[in-house]
Amino acid sequence: MKIAFAASEVYPFAKTGGLADVAGALPKDIAKLGNEVKVFMPKYNFVDEDKYDIKYCWDIGEIPVRVNGTIRFMHLHQAKLPNSNVEINFIDCPHYFFRGQVYTNDPDEDERFILFSKGVIEVLQRLKWAPDIIHCNDWQTGLLPLFVKDNYKWDRMFEHTAFLFTIHNIGYQGIFSSKSIFAAEIREDLFYPGGPAELNGDVNFMKIGILFSEIINTVSPTYAKEILTPEYGAGLESILQARKSDLYGILNGVDYKTWDPANDKLIPFRYTPDYLSGKIHNKKYLLEHFQIDFDESIPLIGIVSRLVSQKGFDIVGDVISRLMNLEAQWMVLGSGDSKFEEMFNAIAHNNSDKAAVYIGYNNEISHLVEAASDIFLMPSLYEPCGLNQIYSLKYGTVPVVRKTGGLNDTVQDWHEVKSAGGEETGTGFTFEDYSGHALYTTLVRAIDTFHNKPVWKKIQKNGMSRVYSWQNAAESYLDLYQKAALKL
Ligand code: ADP
Ligand code: GLC
Repeated sequence: MKIAFAASEVYPFAKTGGLADVAGALPKDIAKLGNEVKVFMPKYNFVDEDKYDIKYCWDIGEIPVRVNGTIRFMHLHQAKLPNSNVEINFIDCPHYFFRGQVYTNDPDEDERFILFSKGVIEVLQRLKWAPDIIHCNDWQTGLLPLFVKDNYKWDRMFEHTAFLFTIHNIGYQGIFSSKSIFAAEIREDLFYPGGPAELNGDVNFMKIGILFSEIINTVSPTYAKEILTPEYGAGLESILQARKSDLYGILNGVDYKTWDPANDKLIPFRYTPDYLSGKIHNKKYLLEHFQIDFDESIPLIGIVSRLVSQKGFDIVGDVISRLMNLEAQWMVLGSGDSKFEEMFNAIAHNNSDKAAVYIGYNNEISHLVEAASDIFLMPSLYEPCGLNQIYSLKYGTVPVVRKTGGLNDTVQDWHEVKSAGGEETGTGFTFEDYSGHALYTTLVRAIDTFHNKPVWKKIQKNGMSRVYSWQNAAESYLDLYQKAALKL
């Protein structure tokens, strides 16, 4: 099949979270299954042209696209996804993408991704490449199916193009005022109370993506069920209920070329399940670097995260002083809401002997935290899939997670499996209640178990032997592409 894959961030070119990891890996595995894949992303000013050998496409030249009543000019650049033959197409429009960051709070945020979506279509036309599937990801690409089926309906080239819309996070829907209808040139008769382009008086890009795509999926089986409920659907639950028979859940995979402690070039000491002492060297290295005394018998708890409510930091805040009284050391890497950044900065300031905090985004340190920590904490309020807990399993860093979304599908509680009479297959520690108390008692349970060395090793090895390859996920995606094509 021919597949165009559109996303607002793709690793290693631009990344704020897991979407980039997915978009940088999944297309390669889909291509390996014998498909032709072209990836599309915006060309932000921080995308490194030289490092990735990104070439300007002279034969395409300047492309005019009208957004918000003004003609903007865009250009195409191309490269290959690293270690592959998969082509990546960069939509270059400095007016919208020279902003120093992937997402902004600028008043024309809607226009940025209107331009991107129209840009993908304009490029496909000029490449004369008619995809069987356009795979859209999150709200930034939500308008693509509507544009193809309406604004560009005149082009017979897309007659046999079907859409898969993947929801990576329903908490971000692309909600804009009704002015976006004009900016995007969406037919006005689609915008009325309860209409396909409207939700609560606003334009909702994700709703449009859901309604105009043949098939919809999200990134774990549990989250696919959760988003049908008011608790997790963020207002889109009834729209998803109506499309329930076309909604699937496919668990994300891991790019083990990037995330494997046996080959990870970003960590100082490599290790394997049979050589776990390499992991301890990483712990020593990290603690020394952050000026905390190394003591093998004290567990190091790691956090790598966007610091937003989604990730459960409200309940961390509820019990923060009790957490700091535990006999444990802490390493937090993250950035996001200022209230959480301040909370962690205060923790580091008041507990400098046991807690290190790095506020910011740093890929190298994220690998080191995975490698050095004994426990990885992810108490999410909701989690569509979550990648860090899966990386943690591979790094022998035992995850302590709330049982929601993809966390529920990837981490098995050690005691729960045992007490249910099962084998000793547990890989971590989980809790259900979204409360500081549940988080605290589960962490205490993990720390107690940490001191029982043989059991801890068993849990580590259980996790390290789990395989979440993209190959399996890619096969499931291919299945959905075929389902989508059949619906035309
Ligand atoms: P989400 O996409 O919701 O942020 P995921 O767990 O799916 O959550 O993916 C997060 C990705 O972003 C992981 O690859 C993680 O290592 C990375 N990441 C998050 N915060 C940081 C940070 N401050 N520095 C470096 N990498 C980060
Ligand atoms: C989102 C979700 C995260 C998921 C990632 C990649 O950002 O918050 O849970 O792993 O997308 O699908």
